[in-house]
Amino acid sequence: MGNSKRKTVAESRSVMHRLVMPEDSNTLGTLMGGVLMHWMDMCAAIAARRHSNTYAMTVTVDRVQLVSPVRMGEVVILEAEITRAFRTSMEIGMRVVAENLDTGKKRLCASTFYSFVAVDKEGNTQAVPEVVPETDEQKRRYREAEKRRSERLEDAARIREEAEAFGSG
Ligand SMILES: CC(C)(COP(=O)(O)OP(=O)(O)OC[C@H]1O[C@@H](n2cnc3c(N)ncnc32)[C@H](O)[C@@H]1OP(=O)(O)O)[C@@H](O)C(=O)NCCC(=O)NCCS
Repeated sequence: MGNSKRKTVAESRSVMHRLVMPEDSNTLGTLMGGVLMHWMDMCAAIAARRHSNTYAMTVTVDRVQLVSPVRMGEVVILEAEITRAFRTSMEIGMRVVAENLDTGKKRLCASTFYSFVAVDKEGNTQAVPEVVPETDEQKRRYREAEKRRSERLEDAARIREEAEAFGSG
């Protein structure tokens, strides 16, 4: 069954701030990649939950390139919002910015896209509201989401074949 609701991108927006502490850092004093990925997953999941108002399972994370290390004592700002919803799946755009509290300067550290599937308590997939893009940027990301989704589904088909070969080996 479809979902007749429509929601704006802004309604899903999720912003998190994290101060990088010693327990988040490696021996060089910079943020560990795995810790950042955990924060990113949480922030993206909140956006998916806000849009769907049900449980949301992470299905894919696109390529993540960490372009700038984040030092202990800096603030990580994570921003996530939906770009497009399909039937039960949602694409969430994620941006990670580091802020140096001494200089006030901000820099981009990473950006990527997540896909989530909405499920109920039993894990059955659920139809989600349609997205209404409003700004030019939101409209562009909405249009381009279709191509990204096709590429992910091609990857998924390839991985399924590998899984079947593994199972029968
Ligand atoms: C998510 C999951 C239920 C989808 O299973 P499935 O058998 O592919 O289910 P369906 O074929 O009904 O697909 C459901 C939706 O997921 C989408 N989907 C499936 N694989 C996808 C992929 N690799 N990338 C993007 N979307 C994908 C489908 O296109 C469909 O979306 P739509 O309804 O909007 O068209 C299954 O892959 C799963 O359980 N994965 C593990 C998730 C997990 O454990 N996450 C970590 C905990 S949160």
